[in-house]
Amino acid sequence: MLHSTKISQGKAIFCSRYVKTYKYLVEKEAGFSIIPNLFSDFNSFIALVCRGAVSVTRRKIGQFDPSNGIGLANTSLALFGGNLFALCESDLPYAIKLAPNGDIITIGRHNFEGNLPINMTAHPKIDPDTGEAFAFRYCPIPPFLTYFRIHPNGTKSRDIPIFSMTRPSFIHDFAITKNYIIFPDTQLETNPFGLITSGAPVGYNSRKVPRLGVLPRYATDESKMKWFEVPGFNMIHAINAWEVDDGDTIVVIAPNTMSIEHFLERLDLIRPRIEKVKVDLKKGMVSRYTMSSWNLELASINQACVGKKNKYIYAPIGNPLPKAKGVVKLDVSISEIDQRDCIVATRIFGPNSNEDNGYVVCYMHNESTRESSFIVMDAKSHDLEIVAAVKLPRRVPYGFHGRFVKESDLNTLWKVDGSGLLELGFNLK
Ligand SMILES: [Fe+2]
Repeated sequence: MLHSTKISQGKAIFCSRYVKTYKYLVEKEAGFSIIPNLFSDFNSFIALVCRGAVSVTRRKIGQFDPSNGIGLANTSLALFGGNLFALCESDLPYAIKLAPNGDIITIGRHNFEGNLPINMTAHPKIDPDTGEAFAFRYCPIPPFLTYFRIHPNGTKSRDIPIFSMTRPSFIHDFAITKNYIIFPDTQLETNPFGLITSGAPVGYNSRKVPRLGVLPRYATDESKMKWFEVPGFNMIHAINAWEVDDGDTIVVIAPNTMSIEHFLERLDLIRPRIEKVKVDLKKGMVSRYTMSSWNLELASINQACVGKKNKYIYAPIGNPLPKAKGVVKLDVSISEIDQRDCIVATRIFGPNSNEDNGYVVCYMHNESTRESSFIVMDAKSHDLEIVAAVKLPRRVPYGFHGRFVKESDLNTLWKVDGSGLLELGFNLK
């Protein structure tokens, strides 16, 4: 389910709507669940056999056609290629629209004029200067990783298969710089046979050494792809990346998921720790620095800084994940030397910077009072001062990702009147 809060002229409009995916429409008409969830419906050998047989039968008698999509469009949102999309990495994106009255309308499943046959990441990266979108998909069969771009006019580039990804890795996110794409190769691997052995299509490989793969943005094949081993660095989400040393070194800021073996079943046991990783492209050396030992994931930055050196990160504080007890503003411009001297508080604010001239917004639910609200914080303030709050009529469940968009940007897409701010977020249904 997709939730939106539109704030304009001192008023707020809240809306919750299911994205009208193929799965939603088929199951709504049937009145019961038809398309199985690979992550939860095959959790034992008996469940695999029984639910597998039922699914095959339903496919044969025409109750559903998986080629129309199996995804929930429930992971993230992105504005690129002339559309606002609801995304899930197991399917194509769904184009959605926000009506002037605040309603959420599903436009439909989008295949970029037939050029995107199957799924794509839920975390494409949009260059703030060019408007280009950079994306990929991962797959349990070769090629395990495929890279592509989408022009601002919605035209998709041809696929670039990455055959140097030799095992089927679970790649949820990646990063871009001005000239490069950075892919993580973590200890989480996709494995369809895992449904038989462990009941899960994603598993943990303790013998694998995590890597970072670096590919030029406009590569026409993978011949210039370079892989760098980074033992112990499991990046599920990226926060940002940029180049230094005239492009010879890449800096990646990301949470390193400690205890990643618990990622799928016990999120409360993992402990993401934000690190700065430097990759020397010429010498082939990698160095790592801990930016915070707090439990921080699902961080966000000013989207105008994507791919460029930035200073501020805003992240929920896991209590434990997926719950959060607050939001922290982190200054990642502090040098490694300063870090050792613990000079943190004096470096929160930097002169001549407008990177944090904006808002940090989030949905919040108080489990004690059972009240839900939408919070707007001043990103420039050191304590993230709450400048507006909207009491919500119902709870927005703990979810995945949200997106803050200016209505003026949406008006450019849809040519509607009005002004205001929109925050959208998903829950897990
Ligand atoms: Fe994500």
